[in-house]
Amino acid sequence: MAGPPSQRWDPARYARNARFVSELGAPVVDLLDPQPGERLLDLGCGDGALTRELMARGCRVLGIDSSPEQVAAARRQGLDARVGDAAELAFDGEFDAVFSNAALHWVRRADEAIAGVHAALVPGGRFVGEFGGAGNVSAIREALTVALAERGVDAAPLDPWFFPTDDEYRARLQAGGFQVREVRLFARPTPLPGDVAEWLEIFAQPFLGGVADAQRGALIDRLRELLRPRLCDAGGRWAVDYVRLRFAADKP
Ligand code: BEZ
Repeated sequence: MAGPPSQRWDPARYARNARFVSELGAPVVDLLDPQPGERLLDLGCGDGALTRELMARGCRVLGIDSSPEQVAAARRQGLDARVGDAAELAFDGEFDAVFSNAALHWVRRADEAIAGVHAALVPGGRFVGEFGGAGNVSAIREALTVALAERGVDAAPLDPWFFPTDDEYRARLQAGGFQVREVRLFARPTPLPGDVAEWLEIFAQPFLGGVADAQRGALIDRLRELLRPRLCDAGGRWAVDYVRLRFAADKP
């Protein structure tokens, strides 16, 4: 994963509350169809859970992430990972495939990222990934907009997320020189292991930073109130309204 400067990752908290992110990445690994001996780039590797899975398939994998904390967590497990910005890749024909799960929605400079991936691949190389697409976490985005407006704060300039439509991302991939095999947008409501407050504290920091620390608890209480009718069932179980954009493209 990646994120703006106002978004920080706590690997221990992430491992406790957000393990579902890498667990739900298994179909994306299958779509990549990694082959033993291939050289892969895991773009937005986070703490390396899927990097490890790709290595288990016999690949040589470099992980890149903008979070020094997550990269340190990946390296502690012996993975080859380094800090880097997905929109500023500087590789030249080094990888058979670039893989990315749940990271590219943090990269607003999408065309720069696509260009860097294209340059990083060998001819015939694959770019396969999944991230948040149009409509992703819309209940959460709307609640953030409302709760911040109630406090006199405009959420728009705080919003770090890039959730394109399938048509938009297909066009960007094609403009970046890729032959697109598939781009698919689908709803995937995702049960949370705990309370939505944890999700907000982990993933919505750029918005929460719009209020003073002393107001943060009250803001989260208000968000829970706004979100409960839409995201919490009668048994008190929360689920997030994820929409995924899954794609596979080839460099000719
Ligand atoms: C996502 O995986 O779709 C996502 C995660 C954090 C913030 C926004 C979206």
